[in-house]
Amino acid sequence: MISQATESAKMPVSNSSVLDSRNLQNDYSTLTAILTPGLRVLDVGCGTGAITSGIAAAVGENGFVVGIDSSAHLVAKGKEDFKNIPNLQLVEVDLFNYYPEEKFDLIVAARVLQWLPNPKEAIIKCKELLKPNGRLSVLDYNHTELEWDPAPPESMQKFYQAFLNWRLDEGMNNQIAEDLPPYFRELGLQEIEVFEANEVYKKGETNFIEKAGIWSIVAHLRGPQMVETGYIPEFERLQAIEEYDKWIQDDAELMTMKLKETRGRIENRP
Ligand SMILES: C[S@@+](CC[C@H](N)C(=O)[O-])C[C@H]1O[C@@H](n2cnc3c(N)ncnc32)[C@H](O)[C@@H]1O
Repeated sequence: MISQATESAKMPVSNSSVLDSRNLQNDYSTLTAILTPGLRVLDVGCGTGAITSGIAAAVGENGFVVGIDSSAHLVAKGKEDFKNIPNLQLVEVDLFNYYPEEKFDLIVAARVLQWLPNPKEAIIKCKELLKPNGRLSVLDYNHTELEWDPAPPESMQKFYQAFLNWRLDEGMNNQIAEDLPPYFRELGLQEIEVFEANEVYKKGETNFIEKAGIWSIVAHLRGPQMVETGYIPEFERLQAIEEYDKWIQDDAELMTMKLKETRGRIENRP
């Protein structure tokens, strides 16, 4: 059965600076080992193409990269930002409605399956889009093991728990990083490998405030949906943002987001 991405999986229209600040080397570094010249690659849920453009550089002029994303505003920005890269194409389309003429050697999906209520169907769809012997790489989080040091204000801890509850009730898997290897096995992928790819941000690093600030952005972007559906009162959402922003400036030392890449290959069928 073909499923559609839910509205929750789409990125709310907003400033895309979190996605724009990412790049292949820092934010999907484990993938670089298998990006050889000449590959035809699909990046599912490419956002504005910040990581996708790095993949295009790595596969070189004899390779080609297609980035697809269901959020129109992100694809529009990426098309403008990367219009001069000849071996990169960005397309606004839902994975489940995507029927390219040519299949791919490698399909990657970074931080996307965490938003889907049907991640196994997404893996099945990716398998259909791979050439014989093609590879699938999925990079994703275990949100249940996020670490902050020291602990952030109680208001943010409460918001974060509400966020996990909201996601769970929407059918999203909060620890998908751990469940990807069994999903890959169940769906018949071979040569399954798992790579640790934690995002570790330390006070004093140039991007610390911006990176640790992601939870403030989540409370801005996703919080209103959570308020509407009764997961947290509006005043508590606003309190979490205010106190967390101050905590990052004054007290925060370290934040670790648990992330893993799971990689596999489809069987060598004709
Ligand atoms: C958290 S962003 C990740 C962007 C980028 N891969 C990165 O790692 O920075 C998740 C992206 O997946 C996209 N997305 C979610 N469901 C999708 C679907 N079914 N088909 C295509 N894109 C989807 C969203 O629009 C969003 O841009």
